[in-house]
Amino acid sequence: MLNILGIGAGYVGGPTMAVIADKCPEHKVTVVDINAEKIAAWNSDHLPIFEPGLDALIERVRGRNLFFSTEIDEEIRKADLIFVSVNTPTKTYGQGAGLAADLMYWEKTARQIRANATGPKIVIEKSTVPVRTAVAMERILNEKDSPIHFDVLSCPEFLAEGTAIRDLEVPDRVLIGGRHDTDSGREAMKKLSDIFRHWVPEERIIHSNIWSAELSKLASNAFLAQRVSSINAISAICEKTEADINEVSRAIGLDQRIGPHFLKSSVGFGGSCFKKDLLNLVYLCQFYGLEEAAEYWMWVVKFNDHQMNRFVDRILKKMFNTINGKRIVLFGFAFKANTGDTRESPAIYVTKRLLEERAEVVVTDPRALDNARRDLEGMPVTFAEDPYEAVRGAHAIAVMTEWDLYRDLDYQRIYDVMEKPAFVFDGRNILDHKGLYEMGYHVFPIGKKA
Ligand code: NAD
Ligand code: UGA
Repeated sequence: MLNILGIGAGYVGGPTMAVIADKCPEHKVTVVDINAEKIAAWNSDHLPIFEPGLDALIERVRGRNLFFSTEIDEEIRKADLIFVSVNTPTKTYGQGAGLAADLMYWEKTARQIRANATGPKIVIEKSTVPVRTAVAMERILNEKDSPIHFDVLSCPEFLAEGTAIRDLEVPDRVLIGGRHDTDSGREAMKKLSDIFRHWVPEERIIHSNIWSAELSKLASNAFLAQRVSSINAISAICEKTEADINEVSRAIGLDQRIGPHFLKSSVGFGGSCFKKDLLNLVYLCQFYGLEEAAEYWMWVVKFNDHQMNRFVDRILKKMFNTINGKRIVLFGFAFKANTGDTRESPAIYVTKRLLEERAEVVVTDPRALDNARRDLEGMPVTFAEDPYEAVRGAHAIAVMTEWDLYRDLDYQRIYDVMEKPAFVFDGRNILDHKGLYEMGYHVFPIGKKA
């Protein structure tokens, strides 16, 4: 039996450690966090995050071999393997401000591990970090003359929110980066692989050096984000011509070399990681003097900002260049469907711009209203649980999140209570545009000439 510790009980730490506990019943898994409120929530019936399948999973393993605690020092002492999933936000101060990853939480954790460890441990990077972080952590942990040896591995997490449990249970791959050149490095990689072997097929557990594993994570997010910005750039051309972005996406996605995923044009990508990791990659390129590579990746971020701006510009233009006093309802506030997470959600940006134009903004979302209230604190925005209530007297609906719920609403009923002309701006292209048009709506999808 191993004592496995997860430090950081957030969107990654919570679900990841829960799946490990579920699949490895002989091991004891503990998750700790400095945020006592969050730990209390993990120990309650109201988990701190929403993820499909998470409630049932926690119900199954909590108290069996999964425990949530705030006793960080004590749990470090007991642990054989430590997964670190603390946050690595963009630095807001000093060198690299606005681009580099802030490793403050990671380094603090490493020092806390060193201070409390009484025996050797394997420390695993789950957080997304710049290349060479593991080596820096090795140096912090393996202080000169220290009798305790630490192995540091990189095992980046690739889960996406909204599908986290499925992604963890059936991952495309598990990537383990470590030191092949030392006995203890090889032994550490084997120990970690043995955990994943409980449920992940051998051929999907791949190994690399530490630096490649760290860079693969940044590169993977950069490629995914780049696809979204690329298709969104094509959507801009569609809006000027008779081309239809859905038809274009389908046609190019059927090329096996391109593939169908991440070709959905939208109001823009959001989430806590794409922008942060792209900026981190840009900083790395700049740090190594690779200006052209830095610019290349920076454009993915810039185009995303442009896409969000285009969306609001279009609302303004189509609504006769003034939305002052007009009621605009945002359908969805989460950065994607099936999550309550609103970090870097395009809805935040769109709301701010609509308020600048003095629109009256109403926000509705089935899971993200609490986070939306926090994000928009102090701003003159109305929140509504019920979309039918939200649209009463509205001039326009802007679809921000692709919740199924919004596909299935009774749009005739909605039309009847809206101001006329009634506008729909579909930032996710999920609605039946032709049907809405026939009802009398003025409909503006992404990537279609209206
Ligand atoms: P999060 O903010 O939800 O969770 C991080 C947790 O770490 C917080 O609860 C925080 O209180 C805790 N923490 C910070 N410092 C600590 C310390 N010293 N000791 C104990 N706990 C501490 O963040 P997240 O979304 O889970 O992301 C964590 C990391 O995983 C980031 O590096 C992110 O880039 C990466 N990642 C995130 C996702 C995702 O979908 N959210 C997916 C893959 C990778
Ligand atoms: C993303 C990656 O998909 C994960 O592999 C990665 O582990 C994670 O970032 C991370 O490192 O945090 P996530 O941000 O949770 O996961 O969600 P995605 O499904 O990637 O969506 C990101 C954003 O892109 C969302 O706003 C989504 O609506 C948007 N998107 C996605 C599009 O606009 N079009 C698409 O075709 C796909």
